[in-house]
Amino acid sequence: MLKKIRISRIVAILFLLAANGVNAQSTYTIDASQPGIAVSPNLYGIFFEEINHAGEGGLYAEMVQNRDFEVTSIPLGSSMAGNLVRTKDLWQERKIFGNELHGWSFLSEGGAIGDIRLRQDHPLNGKNPASMRLIVTKSGNRSGVYNAGFWGMNFIQGETYNLSFFARSSGNKKLDVTVSLESPNGNRIYAEKKMAQVGGNWQKYECSLVPNTSDNLGRLALTIHQPDTLWLDVVSLFPQKTYRNRANGLRDDMMQILAGLKPAFVRFPGGAIVGGMNLDNRIQWKNSIGDISQRKGTMNLWGYYTTNGLGYHEYLQMCEDLKADALWVCNPGFSDNYRKAEYCKPEEVHLYVKEALDALEYALGPVDSEWGSKRAANGHPAAFPLKYIEIGNEASGEVYRTNYKLFYDAIHAKYPEVKIISNYGAIPGGVVEIKDDHKYGSPDSFIKAFNQYDKADRKGPEIYVGEYGCTSGVGQGNLKGALAEAVYLMGLEKNSDIVTMSSYAPLFFHVNDNAWPVNMIGFDNQSVFGRTSYWVNRMMAENRPDFILNTQSADSVKNLFCISGYDKKTDEIVLKVVNTSAQPQKAAFRFKGILFASQTATSILLTHSDFNAENSRYNPEVVVPQTGQFKVGKEGIEREFSPWSFTILRVKTTKPKN
Ligand code: AHR
Repeated sequence: MLKKIRISRIVAILFLLAANGVNAQSTYTIDASQPGIAVSPNLYGIFFEEINHAGEGGLYAEMVQNRDFEVTSIPLGSSMAGNLVRTKDLWQERKIFGNELHGWSFLSEGGAIGDIRLRQDHPLNGKNPASMRLIVTKSGNRSGVYNAGFWGMNFIQGETYNLSFFARSSGNKKLDVTVSLESPNGNRIYAEKKMAQVGGNWQKYECSLVPNTSDNLGRLALTIHQPDTLWLDVVSLFPQKTYRNRANGLRDDMMQILAGLKPAFVRFPGGAIVGGMNLDNRIQWKNSIGDISQRKGTMNLWGYYTTNGLGYHEYLQMCEDLKADALWVCNPGFSDNYRKAEYCKPEEVHLYVKEALDALEYALGPVDSEWGSKRAANGHPAAFPLKYIEIGNEASGEVYRTNYKLFYDAIHAKYPEVKIISNYGAIPGGVVEIKDDHKYGSPDSFIKAFNQYDKADRKGPEIYVGEYGCTSGVGQGNLKGALAEAVYLMGLEKNSDIVTMSSYAPLFFHVNDNAWPVNMIGFDNQSVFGRTSYWVNRMMAENRPDFILNTQSADSVKNLFCISGYDKKTDEIVLKVVNTSAQPQKAAFRFKGILFASQTATSILLTHSDFNAENSRYNPEVVVPQTGQFKVGKEGIEREFSPWSFTILRVKTTKPKN
C-alpha cells in the first residue's frame, strides 16, 4: 500500500513538473580525471565562395559595377537565351545583367544628347576586348556617363576614394574629363576633379576624391564638356580604407566580422564555381593575378559577372591577414558534376595537374621559381600560408577517381608538406588523407547527426566537413536552424580526433542577391550582420577546448544535448548545452577528478522566446549571445536551460591531475 502511495506521489510530482512546463532534472557526470580526445585546433574554419555577390560588390572593395565592360563575356561555346546563359550541352543558368552595358548609363542634363555603346574595335588589351564608347552630339548642361555601383555607392564624408580609369579620345583630340562623386540623380556633387586632357591613345588616369557629404546611394560620373567621343575601360573606384589598408583590398567591416570567427583556415574559391558551367568557365587562377587591367573576368554560374579583381593573390593575402591557413580547391579536369560536366580529354589531364602545381608554386615557391617570382613581383616575396589543396568540389565518378591519383601523386611528390583533400573517402589504388563531407538539410537531420561520427573509422582518412548548413524549414536562417547546427557541431567537436575541420556554407549574401536559401552573413553596401548561424559558429570557435571530457547521464535525456571539454590555457571546464525543446530543462553537473577554483563562473547564452527569430539588415541583433556570471555550488552546477537555447558555461578549476 505504502509503495503504491509513493509511486503515485512520484507520478503526481512528475505530472506537476510537466504541467508547469519544466522537465525533470537530469544529472550528468563529467569525468576530468582522464583527458578524452584532443580537439583539433583546425576544427573551425570558413569557406568563401563567389556566390550571392560575396566578393564582387561585397568583400572586394571595388565600388564600380562592370568596371571592365566585359559583362557579356559568357563561357566559350554558350549563348544567351533571354534571361539565361545556355552552354552547348544545354545547361542553363540565370544571368542578372540587364543590358550589355550593365551598371552604366548615359548622363544627360539640360538637353544633352548622345549615347553609349559597347565596342570591341579598340581593345585595351587581349584580356579586355570590350570597352565603352561615349558619343556626345549635344552637350546640354552636362553630358557623360555614370555608374551607381552595386545597388548604390556608399560615400562617407571626409573619407578618401581612389579613382583610376583608362581613356582615349578619337582622332588624337585633347578632351577634358570631369570626374565626380554625386547623389543618385546628380543634383548634388560631393567631390569633383577635372582630369588632365585625355589624348588619342589608351592611357591610365588617376586621382583621389573626398566627398563632403555621406550618401549610401551615390554614383560616380565622368563627363565631357563639348560634343565629342570618349572611350573608357577599367574604371575603378576604391575606398582608401580597406582591411589592413591593402591596395585592391577588401572591405574593412566584412573582414572584421570574419576575423571575429577566428578561422583556423579559409577554403576558397568554391564550391560549384571551381568546376564552372563548362571547362572554359572553371576557376582559372592565372586570369586572376597581376594588374587588374590585365585580368580576365568570368560569367559566374551564380548569375553574375566577376572581374576576378578578388583573385588568387588576394585570397591568399586574406588568409594571411586573418592568420588562417589557406585551403585552395583546384579543378579536377572537368566542370561541375551537377551541371552536365564537360570532361577534358584524358591526354589533357596533365595540363590541369600543371595548373594546380603552378598555383602551389605561386603560393609557396621560391622567389626565383617561375610562379614564385610572379608572387614577388605582385608584392609578396614571402611564401603564403597555403597548407591544403582540395582536388575538385563535389566531384564524382570514375573519371574523378582516375584523375585524383594523377593529381595526388604529382602534388605529393613536389609538395609533401601540403595536405591533399579528396571528394571520396577511398580511392582504389590511391591515397586519401582527408575526405570532404558536405551536409545540407533540415534541423531534424542536423540534430540526428549528433552521433554521426561516433563510430567513424579511427584509422582514417580524416574528415573535413567542408560545407554544412540548415537549408530547409529555418526561414532565412533562424534560431531553430542555428541550434540544430550547434548540436551538429558539438557532434563534430566530440569526434574531432577524426573530424578535424569544418566550414559553414555559404559564408556571405548580399541582401539584393540571394542565390542560396540560407547563408551565414548578410550585407549591403554599408552594413554587415551575422545570422544566428554566425553566432553559433563564433561561440564554438571562441570556446574550443583542448580536449574532450567524458560526459555521461544515466537519465534518459530528450532534447538536451551536452558535451564538455577542458581549456588548458585558462584552466577552465567548458560545458556546451543545447536545449532544442519548447520547455525549460533542468540539469545538474557533477565532476570527478577536479576542483573548482572559484565560486563564480561565466555563462554565454544564445536564445530567444521565438525559435523563428532571425537577425536581418534592419534588426541585426535580435539573437546575439549574452555573457553573464553565475554561482557554482559545492556539489557542482545546477541550472535550468531556457527553451530553444545554446549555453556555454566556463568554470575555473585547479588543473586536472592528468
Ligand atoms: O554552398 C553552395 C553550393 O553548395 C556550393 O557551391 C556547392 O559545393 C554545394 O553544392
